[in-house]
Amino acid sequence: MSEAGSRTRGLFITLEGPEGSGKSLLGRALAARLEANGRRVLLTREPGGTPLGDVLRDVLLLRRELHFAPLAQALVLAASRTQLVQDVIRPALRSGTVVLCDRYVDSTYAYQGFGHGLALEDLRMVMRVATEGLLPDLTLLLDVTPEMGLARKQRQGATSPSEWNRFEAETLAFHNRVRDGYHALAAEHPERWVRLDATSHPEVVAAEAWHAVQQRLIEDPSPP
Ligand code: TMP
Repeated sequence: MSEAGSRTRGLFITLEGPEGSGKSLLGRALAARLEANGRRVLLTREPGGTPLGDVLRDVLLLRRELHFAPLAQALVLAASRTQLVQDVIRPALRSGTVVLCDRYVDSTYAYQGFGHGLALEDLRMVMRVATEGLLPDLTLLLDVTPEMGLARKQRQGATSPSEWNRFEAETLAFHNRVRDGYHALAAEHPERWVRLDATSHPEVVAAEAWHAVQQRLIEDPSPP
């Protein structure tokens, strides 16, 4: 486990990817498989996952009339993350639960770093403090082009462009920087990242993801 300091028993898995990459669907599929295999599972998401985080999520995503400087975004995300790590993720890991988190620090590096141009080393310092150094054991990257991801979101009827949240409404160039950023982050730590082709059928994606998760469970067989 890649946690600075104390060792915990659970497994910490994060799901990352551009808009419309199918993270939520995959999270539910993995949670079901883990539970069927006798594992305790916690599925959560960022920003959000705590009462405070949910309020911060609404402000960040939905209050588009508010000017929100990228650094202010990162600091609000850090606050939401601190609360989630302290109140939810660390206690779950300590009790041997497998934690599946839909977005985590790498989203900040991809969106506020690569997307908005904030310095990665500054963001890493802030996130190290915010999370007390808690890093995932495994990060699944659901890779899809922004064009396909945003079109998929529209097709699903989840949102129309007039209702897009702060990030969905960003330019295609921004979303391309985010995607390229994910590739760069994954290349930096290939031992932690597994790239999945999010254009495949959801069942194929889930099967590949399950394979990667199983390997980590074999490497670190905490009791259920
Ligand atoms: P989603 O989880 O439904 O994809 O929505 C969360 C949005 O927030 C998504 O557009 C990405 C953005 N976001 C960031 O910009 N930075 C972050 O650190 C996180 C967690 C999310």
